[in-house]
Amino acid sequence: MQRIVVFTGAGISAESGLKTFRDAGGLWENHRVEEVASPEAWQENPELVLQFYNERRRQAQAAQPNAAHLALAQLERRFDVQIITQNVDDLHERAGSTNILHLHGELGKARSTLDGRLVYNVAAVTKNGVDIVLGDQCELGSQLRPHIVWFGEIVPDIRRASRLCEKADFFVVIGTSMLVHPAASLIHYVPQAAAKVLIDPDIPVVNVPNLYSIREKATIGVVRMVEQLLK
Ligand code: APR
Repeated sequence: MQRIVVFTGAGISAESGLKTFRDAGGLWENHRVEEVASPEAWQENPELVLQFYNERRRQAQAAQPNAAHLALAQLERRFDVQIITQNVDDLHERAGSTNILHLHGELGKARSTLDGRLVYNVAAVTKNGVDIVLGDQCELGSQLRPHIVWFGEIVPDIRRASRLCEKADFFVVIGTSMLVHPAASLIHYVPQAAAKVLIDPDIPVVNVPNLYSIREKATIGVVRMVEQLLK
């Protein structure tokens, strides 16, 4: 069976109402990155960091998968599909995709600040089932933090992701500015001979062979591509 690896970024969730990071009106406009998404921010103002991710979690829960997420789930009818997402929302899961690697973590999870291997569902370990607050603790008694990869932190699953890319017959990149590494470097692990497609209204600059660009929003470009592949 042909193996399709799909690499997604914030752009695929934009039409579900979740803001991207670097487009006009993007999240970082109200907060400097260092203020909310770094180990230093967590040291200096954990309450602000928790509040920022609590808002993101509430927004993501209120959002619905869009036609692009749903179309990708349909691809599993005929192909071996692996999704590698930089997104921390769960819209791929809720659309029905089954093989999803979250490179930058998940809003729906919390982890221990003492032992990063202790990961929990936010719904199971917080008082109101949605928000992580100061005082919420892991089983060892240390504060819980969002299960998110912050700037300056290693990306624990990058090796696993690069191995998946090495096995791709077809690689699709959707809605990412390709500015954040190491995630953006994954495309260089895809075999030279494999076809690669970028779907984005603002095509990022990428220099690899066999690359095709579809300058469309995800709900148009992804739906069209999936229709072609399932024909
Ligand atoms: N359909 C498809 N793509 C879109 C749409 C849409 N409707 N709207 C915007 N885009 C594209 C933009 O043109 C841009 O290329 O989505 C991309 C969003 O880029 P970023 O905001 O940089 O998001 P992303 O690439 O996912 O960011 C990577 O940076 O801040 C960190 O950890 C965070 O995972 C995130 C990483």
